[in-house]
Amino acid sequence: MPSAAKPVVSPYIGTATSRVDGHAKVTGAAKYAGEFNAPGLAYGAVVCATIAKGRITAIDPSEALRVPGVIAVLTHENRPVMAKTDKAYRDDVAPEGGAPFRPLFDADVKFSGQPVALVIAEEWEVARFATMLVRIDYAAANFVTDLAAERGKAVAVEKPAKPRGKAEQALAAAAVRHEAEYYIPIEHHNPMELFASTVTWAGDGKLTVYDKTQGVQNVQHYLCNVFKLKPEQVRVVSPFMGGGFGSGLRPQYQVALAAMAALATKRAVRLVLTRQQMYQLGYRPATIERVALGASRNGTLEAVIHEAIAVTSRYEDFSRNDTGWSGQLYKSPHAKYEHRLARVDLPTPADMRAPGATTGVYALECAMDELAVALKLDPLELRLRCYSDRDQNEDLPYTSKALRECYRQGAEAFGWDKRNPRPRSMRDGSELVGWGMATGIWEALQMQFAVRIVLTANGHAEVSCAASDIGTGTYTIMAQVAADMLGLPLDNVTVKLGDSTLPLAQVEGGSWTAASVSHAIANTADLIRKELWRLAKGMPQSPLAKTKLGDVTLAHGRVASESDAGKAVSIADAMRHGGLERIAQEGKANFKALKSHAHNTHSAIFAEVKIDEEIGVIRVTRVVNAVAAGRILNTKTARSQILGSVVWGIGMALHEETLVDHKFGRMMNANLAEYHVPVNADVHDIEVIFVDEPDEVINPLGIKGVGEIGIVGVAAAIANAIYHATGKRVRDLPITLDKSRP
Ligand code: MOS
Repeated sequence: MPSAAKPVVSPYIGTATSRVDGHAKVTGAAKYAGEFNAPGLAYGAVVCATIAKGRITAIDPSEALRVPGVIAVLTHENRPVMAKTDKAYRDDVAPEGGAPFRPLFDADVKFSGQPVALVIAEEWEVARFATMLVRIDYAAANFVTDLAAERGKAVAVEKPAKPRGKAEQALAAAAVRHEAEYYIPIEHHNPMELFASTVTWAGDGKLTVYDKTQGVQNVQHYLCNVFKLKPEQVRVVSPFMGGGFGSGLRPQYQVALAAMAALATKRAVRLVLTRQQMYQLGYRPATIERVALGASRNGTLEAVIHEAIAVTSRYEDFSRNDTGWSGQLYKSPHAKYEHRLARVDLPTPADMRAPGATTGVYALECAMDELAVALKLDPLELRLRCYSDRDQNEDLPYTSKALRECYRQGAEAFGWDKRNPRPRSMRDGSELVGWGMATGIWEALQMQFAVRIVLTANGHAEVSCAASDIGTGTYTIMAQVAADMLGLPLDNVTVKLGDSTLPLAQVEGGSWTAASVSHAIANTADLIRKELWRLAKGMPQSPLAKTKLGDVTLAHGRVASESDAGKAVSIADAMRHGGLERIAQEGKANFKALKSHAHNTHSAIFAEVKIDEEIGVIRVTRVVNAVAAGRILNTKTARSQILGSVVWGIGMALHEETLVDHKFGRMMNANLAEYHVPVNADVHDIEVIFVDEPDEVINPLGIKGVGEIGIVGVAAAIANAIYHATGKRVRDLPITLDKSRP
């Protein structure tokens, strides 16, 4: 457990503080990776493979090179030296199994759309035009991209949560059973900002890399390993990010290509991918989820069996926990899991908001709804009868779990008690009305982060860390925590992040940044408190002369005794006395694995749909998402996270699906016109409730993180509402009109 002190006065933590970077963002002052400039900037454009698998037999760049303004065409034949071991390409979040993709490494083609050449030109338009003139001959090989075709060959590569009891026998013996397969198609992240890198060349072999990434230090290590550069030769900067959702956790190929281009041409190079190219960077894997539930007549679970078959690439085994949530969440004496991977000729999948849970819990929560129907039990009542105060898989208590309160407050806000259980029984004019609900669960993780705080005598603090703010509000919560811990006004705190030269940070993912970086700040502020106390104590006739460190806090710009508020020295006076212009401290949060407790966030989602009976149009008219996620640092940015998640849940339920043409092995709808996402007209009332969840165990400030919990369960709540409206159960997403029409 970290030993961070808690702020005594906390005017900022827990409030609806507006984004400290909001002004910079709306005025355009915030610069994104593709917006940095450099003298003599050249532009890259990528040539992508047109076959799904095989080899490049010949590349002829001569026609492209004849275009005025084209500087170079890089291919596997003339690129700079690159590492030859898989280890060099394995970034912090790479799957353990397999061999990471190496951009422009050799003649191998592993997936359609793979980068095979990079044109560098004086103008972007010229570069892009010249990509069409690069002649590439291929020897195509047979390929498979269809999960359904490969499911029989799927292999178990990772052990999911450990089983308990005898699930198959218990299922067979259960009084009531429900068993079904659910399907989630390939989905893409589609962040607004395109993946981009601007690499400047300092003339001495040093690169500054402005990159769109969720982890600057991850990218820095990757580039150093791949191009055999020393750490001091590569600085990676990413102050802002226009959406990541997991797509920027791993270094994406454009950063390798941009670095390669700068090394090869000894110039600054910018490379911005096209929207089409964004579809080859990773995706939520298509997954078949089989859930079997056995229950007693009174609605307690006897057996849970959850099996997942997900796609991965031929070259890397990507898998996440889809199945383990099922027997963790609900009380059941018998549980069994299986996770298999079907290797296909597509790029490797990627983490995408609450990876594993978004898909696995979708299946579980639809299955629970179907079980409730079979039991003639209210679906919420079924959840309550199966409620568990312990993690059933690990048989551990939770650090905190206020899910019961989520159910209660969510149901009350929604008006769940007015639900007529019979499908097709509720109407609003020509529309059928359906009400559905689901549970959400995600992890509350913590990682090692370090923070530097520089306090100047004028009462200003600069807080820095290599963390990213992927749009979640990290700048803001860091400023809030620092202000409270240092007893300063929020305006006196500036936050610097997204630079690999700053103190240690892990990638921004897994919803772990808020808890981790906040504790690094708290620990660092505590070092500053000690130093200020020492200075204040040493002043002539110091009112703090006889105080103990444990009694001294920083509040209202002063070093003050907690037990006797009259005893205080202003921070400025203490520093002046010590002759110090600035105090700099670096501290960290070291989280030991919490073995004694399970640590999760939870939610209860209630959804209303209205469906036109004639034409089947589905509208999600109301969603209430009640979330239990420990202490909420900022109720405004946290609410935004949940709102965005719910919108994505609507997309997952009704719209999103990447279609692969299995004849060509190619993503067919690789654009925002044909890949459907919810638009404003699809989004109606969303109510977010944060239930109170004090947590003394997880960490001293009781923080869990909210980036991902908001999406888990949303698609299930909507699918269950559609069943309730229509009486028709659709198990494969998205629930389009052709499938759901009543
Ligand atoms: Mo999130 S999928 O861990 O960026």
